[in-house]
Amino acid sequence: MNEKSPMGQPAAELPRAGFSSGFGVLAATLGSAVGLGNIWKFPYLTGANGGAGFLLVYLLATLVIGLPVMMAEILLGREAKANPISTLQALAPKRQPWWLIGVAGMLGAFLILSFYSEVVAWVFAYVFKALRGSILSSDPRVTEAAFNALISDPLQSLLWQWGVLVFIGGILVLGVTKGIEALTKKLMPILFLLLLLLCAFSLSLDKAAEGLAFLFKPDFSKISASVALTAMGLAFFKLSIGMGTMMTYGSYFRDDQNIPVTAFRVMCADLCVSMLAGIAIFPAVFTFGFAPAAGPALVFITIPAVFSQIPMGQGLMVVFFVLTAVAATGAMLSLMEVPVVILHERLGLPRTRATLLTILLLVFLGAGCALSNSALADFKVLGMTLFDLSDFVSSNIILPAGGIFLAVFVGWVWGMDKFRLALSNHGQLHNEKLARAVFFVLRYVSPVLILVVMLKGLNLI
Ligand code: PFF
Repeated sequence: MNEKSPMGQPAAELPRAGFSSGFGVLAATLGSAVGLGNIWKFPYLTGANGGAGFLLVYLLATLVIGLPVMMAEILLGREAKANPISTLQALAPKRQPWWLIGVAGMLGAFLILSFYSEVVAWVFAYVFKALRGSILSSDPRVTEAAFNALISDPLQSLLWQWGVLVFIGGILVLGVTKGIEALTKKLMPILFLLLLLLCAFSLSLDKAAEGLAFLFKPDFSKISASVALTAMGLAFFKLSIGMGTMMTYGSYFRDDQNIPVTAFRVMCADLCVSMLAGIAIFPAVFTFGFAPAAGPALVFITIPAVFSQIPMGQGLMVVFFVLTAVAATGAMLSLMEVPVVILHERLGLPRTRATLLTILLLVFLGAGCALSNSALADFKVLGMTLFDLSDFVSSNIILPAGGIFLAVFVGWVWGMDKFRLALSNHGQLHNEKLARAVFFVLRYVSPVLILVVMLKGLNLI
């Protein structure tokens, strides 16, 4: 992947760089999965949807739907070694429009990036707020006021978002192996350790037991169809699947990479980070009197409260938000990769120009989300602000629909023989039974399950 690609050359002939080592593959894939989804979205959705019941559905959706779809996506990308549109064109029979999944994925990427970049913007702003120490308090009124002051200021919201977009664009121009691998490899373990430390402190708080019960003791009456859809949408969002991101990353995978093992490890590590975030946050929510259903603000208002109780809390909070920004950067880079590679390989734009065009589009699209808590707070579509709408449509409609089509494509069009051959690295791995089981799920279970949850959750049946 570099600037030297001649314009207009067919995708298959373009020189592509890949991940250089097996560990690099794991780190970069994990870098896409782990992000604000773990630290921001998982806790707030769990809080808003009743706790443990939501968690249970999310875990089931991850295991039964997410993992097989993730394997399928990576596999397709590695087989065709191209962007999602070209991949599906290459693997599907002539004249069947499966490449439209790639187009929908690109739209999904823009939609997610529009609101994701704004949440990253809040994280960047919080690095500086933490440095100044103004948010270090266990008083809900203080931390809520600080967060509201940030999001209700249109200028700050926009400027931070532009800063994030320029930052991400800059990294992307450097290319896949250098930019993504180096960053994620070094800093992810530190975030993990810091979360462990936070959990230890949170568990020593007065109402830790209440927080843990909320997180782990399911109340089945709280699982409605729309809760199930939100949980399934989160499973897709978390694993970066349903829209071509994992397909794009799959195209950089080495031919000897064990895809089922990599996907399984990524899923486990990703779940661990989310659990740690939950365990760090909910005891504090109950101890300090925050509302579990506080919505997107939840992490930003509770985390400062936890740090306020820890020795050297201010410094550690700075480190926490820096590392969260790093995790979010890895995820954003992977999201950007989808439109950038499509523009590069399909339209022949040099990578730099494709990146700049994507950033420019996001400046406009993202503004709607950035201003959703200020200038555009009253502008609602279907009762949602543009921020909420982008989140809802991408996670609950585009990603699951992408999942259905991908599963149907693999299960009914690509077929068992090709799937099994690809999953075994063309006979190198002996995973025949696993291949049969995953194929069965993709063919019969995932599409039906996703469709039913989607239609019920959207109140269409
Ligand atoms: N998985 C990322 C997170 O949890 O923060 C978000 C994400 C990245 C979603 C890439 C979708 C995607 F294609």
